[in-house]
Amino acid sequence: MINALKEVERKRKAILEMGGHEKIEKLRRSGKLTARERIECLLDENSFVELLPFVESRNTDFGLKSLPADGVITGYGTIDGRPVCVYAQDFTVLGGSLGEMHGMKIARLFDFALEAGIPVIGLCDSGGARIHEGVDSLKSYGEIFRRNVEASGKIPQINVIMGPCAGGAVYSPALGDFVIMTKNKGCHMFITGPKVIEAVTGEKVSPAELGGWEVHAMKSGNCHLVADNDIKALELVKKLLSYLPLNSNECPPVVNTGDDPMRKTPEIYEIVPEDQKKPYDARELVKVIVDNREFLEIQPSFAPNATVGFARIDGKTVGIVANNPWFYAGCLDVDASDKIARFIRFCDCFNIPIITFVDVPGYLPGVEQEHRGVIRHGAKVLYAYSEASVPLITIIVRKAYGGAYIAMGSKHLGADIVYAFPTAEIAVMGPEGAAEIIFKKEIESSGNPEETRLEKIEEYRRKFANPVRAAARGYVDDVIDPQYTRMRIASALRVLERKQKRRKHGNIPL
Ligand code: HXC
Repeated sequence: MINALKEVERKRKAILEMGGHEKIEKLRRSGKLTARERIECLLDENSFVELLPFVESRNTDFGLKSLPADGVITGYGTIDGRPVCVYAQDFTVLGGSLGEMHGMKIARLFDFALEAGIPVIGLCDSGGARIHEGVDSLKSYGEIFRRNVEASGKIPQINVIMGPCAGGAVYSPALGDFVIMTKNKGCHMFITGPKVIEAVTGEKVSPAELGGWEVHAMKSGNCHLVADNDIKALELVKKLLSYLPLNSNECPPVVNTGDDPMRKTPEIYEIVPEDQKKPYDARELVKVIVDNREFLEIQPSFAPNATVGFARIDGKTVGIVANNPWFYAGCLDVDASDKIARFIRFCDCFNIPIITFVDVPGYLPGVEQEHRGVIRHGAKVLYAYSEASVPLITIIVRKAYGGAYIAMGSKHLGADIVYAFPTAEIAVMGPEGAAEIIFKKEIESSGNPEETRLEKIEEYRRKFANPVRAAARGYVDDVIDPQYTRMRIASALRVLERKQKRRKHGNIPL
């Protein structure tokens, strides 16, 4: 028995040595942690239980030998005492490339996590399909993707990109819920790398220009959060998870934040200018309302005209959606629509109430937007709100014009409670544009067209562009003093706590 055990432990020791001293030192020199250190850093001390460490490749083509853990460490553990599954690709073992058995280990982990009803965290660092293993490797990618989709909307899936992520390696993160990228040297995501692009199209581009964190955080929208290094990225995973339930059958944990839900918010008088043309930063508005000003903004640099993220009110997790007039007047455009729709659908999957702050002049007009499909993308916002069955609480701050008014969590799409500030303007369009169209003749035939134009703008504003008209029809539950916003939301969250889920869905990448 003892001898047999010694033999097993000898094998295990070899596996724990990963790709060997030299490769580990190279990794360290580039400022990265090893795959095993990453897991240790992420999980509660001594909580990691490794599964399938002895799995090895069946392929021997091109001199392929048995590789430690086949290049990926899989298992489960706890974060802040809550269970999670985790896998970490080991770049020191053939560049973390994904062979048949490497992929099988990840697929099996997903099956296990689904049975257990707990999140999966992927720590990605991989050269993509293991070239030596050909179609076996592709098969395993397919098996993982199918699991990603099966788990979608049932358990949270968070991926951290900690090194290269090429070819097939990008799609499992893309099918998950959140992608966090590090600023590590050599950390990038792309389907086809610079060499292939140059060969096919003649374009010359560096890996960072093609798929570094700046590209994905600002332009492509593939990345939700960015961290300076491995340790900071793993801290972000923990923070993000603290807002989420373990699965779609549970509610997020309630935290004692110590912030009085009845606290008044008179700061809003200063933050939101009465002049509709003056911008303000919606994030400041959000921060004064939520517990302890803590707001985890998601995709802060992508489509910043829409602000989304997680916070707590009365200790409960809420999903925040806001138009942000600080950028492009808070217009809804193609990217903002995708960002908002996907966030709402995630919240709806995981029982997170949505608080919407509306200040939107409309969908962004322009040939480029129309040609990019603002109709199709804008429809996603309408779909997501209409489909959502979590509590929906909407605050109309200032402008709520046209289709964008309907789209941004209006009563008509199913909001449970809609409040308006006295500064709210709810109308088909802004008073200036409206007056120009419907009073065109009067303005043109007037002895003093400019004076008539201003009179007509004011007339339209009095009649339609104020919250009382909408409140009179029952489209707004009440016009509230902004200093009572936080307590009104806290009260709404309490009364809506038992709201029943209507239907379940996944979280398709939008
Ligand atoms: C097998 C691989 C590999 C791969 C890297 N390695 N990628 N082995 N299959 N895909 C090995 C290298 O041979 C090397 O082995 C070790 O990993 C480290 O790689 P280096 O090149 O030395 O490291 P670095 O300079 O940091 O470059 C990392 C890299 C580069 C950017 C990832 O290796 C690279 O471009 N790899 C190929 C990427 C790629 O085209 N993948 C296939 C995508 S197609 P030694 O023994 O020297 O340590 C694909 C299709 C799936 O994924 C589609 C599904 C939908």
